[in-house]
Amino acid sequence: MGNEMLKANEIKAEDKGKTIISYFVVKSSNQRMTTNNSKFLQMVLADKTGEIDAKFWDVPQKYVDMLIVGAKVKVRAINEPYQGKPQLNVQEAWPITPEDDVSIEDLIQSVPMDVQEMKAYIEDTIESMEDEDFKKVTKTIWSNPTVQKRAEYPAAQKMHHAVRGGLLYHVYRMLKLGEKFCEVYGGETPMINRSLLLSGIILHDVCKVFEMKVEQELLIVEGYTDIGQLLGHSVMGAIYVGETAKEVGMPANKKQYLQHMMISHHGKLEYGAAKEPMFIEATLLHMIDMIDSRVYMIEDATKDLGAGEISDKIWALNTPVLKTV
Ligand SMILES: [Fe+2]
Ligand SMILES: [Fe+2]
Repeated sequence: MGNEMLKANEIKAEDKGKTIISYFVVKSSNQRMTTNNSKFLQMVLADKTGEIDAKFWDVPQKYVDMLIVGAKVKVRAINEPYQGKPQLNVQEAWPITPEDDVSIEDLIQSVPMDVQEMKAYIEDTIESMEDEDFKKVTKTIWSNPTVQKRAEYPAAQKMHHAVRGGLLYHVYRMLKLGEKFCEVYGGETPMINRSLLLSGIILHDVCKVFEMKVEQELLIVEGYTDIGQLLGHSVMGAIYVGETAKEVGMPANKKQYLQHMMISHHGKLEYGAAKEPMFIEATLLHMIDMIDSRVYMIEDATKDLGAGEISDKIWALNTPVLKTV
């Protein structure tokens, strides 16, 4: 046969021309036309180890119908690297059947932590808040059944934490960092309101669950909702905090502090913040958000590298990254 069954991260640019047969889930699929009017599919295929770009040239309609977002497929393809990165030229595809013995866990990337454990940590953090007002608002929003149901969503379509459980993992790690910042800058006369900082961390991206359009079985982000496009999760978060503050009777100043954290957490006007952070908890929220998203991007870019190896350029970081250990 000579065909090799490879995982996404085992397909390398050096293996040009190699035929592979593998199991993937279709992460994105767009129909395009070549300059001489032949139809092709431009896709991103994924399994639990990563993603790979794929094309299906001159594609018959049968495959256009089959290779839709969320489809679980067996693919025969030739590796035809493009710009130094492996790329699959798909020849044939079949829907996965029970005989293939492939589980959903083999096909999707998830965070390396248990969902229930992360949820429990967030709930315990809310319970531990000293300030009853911040506690009430955070608890009300976090326990919204839709938020709970969608808590396993990725944190983004691309960029950082774009995997199942990503949003929870992002909040979980940010809370751990937040506690450390309170410890270092706390002390006898604390400058930081712990409840406000932790509440801001839990709520800052919560409206992403209303901002993103997500395929429901494998939780693949397909795009953005209308309200997500028009308002974005920061402004939606501020509105949600405002409504909830009214419901639970939160004093106006505290409501405004938390709303400010929602709209300023992207830090700079050019990153989509409506205001730049004006107090310590807002500044820390932005910085901690940056730390966790950057660390994730570096982790993700170096996960298949050996010590001393350098990745391709990571556009969001504006540089390739090196794996040290
Ligand atoms: Fe955000
Ligand atoms: Fe974030």
